[in-house]
Amino acid sequence: MIVSTKKAAELIAAGNVVALPTETVYGLAADASNAIAVRKTFELKKRPADNPLIVHIANPDQMEEFSDFRSDELSLLIEAFWPGPLTVILPKKSSVMDIVTAGLDTVALRMPNHPDALAVIRKAGPVTAPSANRSGRPSPTRPNHVSEDFGYEFPIVDGGVCSIGLESTVLDLTGENPTVLRPGKISAEEISKLIGKEVYHDSISKKQAKRSPGTRYSHYRPDADVRWMEPLQGNAFDNHSLYVFHTQQPDESRTNIVRFNGDYGELARSLYDIYRTADHKKYKTIVIEPFPEQQLHPLFPALQNRIQRSVSQ
Ligand code: TXA
Ligand code: MG
Repeated sequence: MIVSTKKAAELIAAGNVVALPTETVYGLAADASNAIAVRKTFELKKRPADNPLIVHIANPDQMEEFSDFRSDELSLLIEAFWPGPLTVILPKKSSVMDIVTAGLDTVALRMPNHPDALAVIRKAGPVTAPSANRSGRPSPTRPNHVSEDFGYEFPIVDGGVCSIGLESTVLDLTGENPTVLRPGKISAEEISKLIGKEVYHDSISKKQAKRSPGTRYSHYRPDADVRWMEPLQGNAFDNHSLYVFHTQQPDESRTNIVRFNGDYGELARSLYDIYRTADHKKYKTIVIEPFPEQQLHPLFPALQNRIQRSVSQ
């Protein structure tokens, strides 16, 4: 059910959960100061209770409610990237509820860059907002993806197609060097250049899994098996698979080939929709062209990460 931003703010203030558009993916918003409402998001998503949520704010001043942490680096990051697809992990104030942070002593904060999300948060106050998918399913980048997972009666603010299509960069600022816990559109290199300091971005390690519980769980997974493409030999396409090419230009014209002609922004924007559409069309497999070893494009780490985590093992 499509609702206005005004209605959404009223529903949230009354303790309900509403799906909101952001520039990355749709989020399931609940009043961050209402434990019962926040618990509802865990129940709706069937999300494990040890996976903390991101608090979304409409103004950097609202950080004060959640953390006392201040630093020159943080100021630079906020100035450069907020509102936008950067989530920062900071030491939390003791007043922040355990259900929000899953008992961690840190809190995740982000100011999204979407007029509808900002309008709702300005009216309703800060909201927790995990991606608006059932746990383990691909994140929603369109209103109909949310309806698929939660039913057509579920309240959604329709903000159209998300312009980025992959979840925010999660950056931990509690250590000596900033560490990317989840790659996103804002790359480690870009952050490093801004703050003049090395930014760590280790791939999913045990240590990291401990720091960011969400990275432990399987994610972004459609029903079809996702595989990296092997070098194709001759006429190797089969009709049960959907083929995704971002660089190569196969000269076959088939309905089960999707091409991006080097437009990685468009690939990021479309990836989760491709996953969901492939399921509707009952493809058995989604076969994706691998990225080169050299990370030539700022979106490669995020795309590589999301696709790798959906690959069937
Ligand atoms: O782009 C996004 O970030 C979207 C939109 C809706 O804003 N939200 C989103 O939320 O992706 P979610 O809940 O699907 O992913 C949040 C990630 C999880 O991997 C979680 O473990 C991590 O952030 N996280 C949250 N709080 C954390 C904390 N205190 N320390 C480390 N990781 C944290
Ligand atoms: Mg998620």
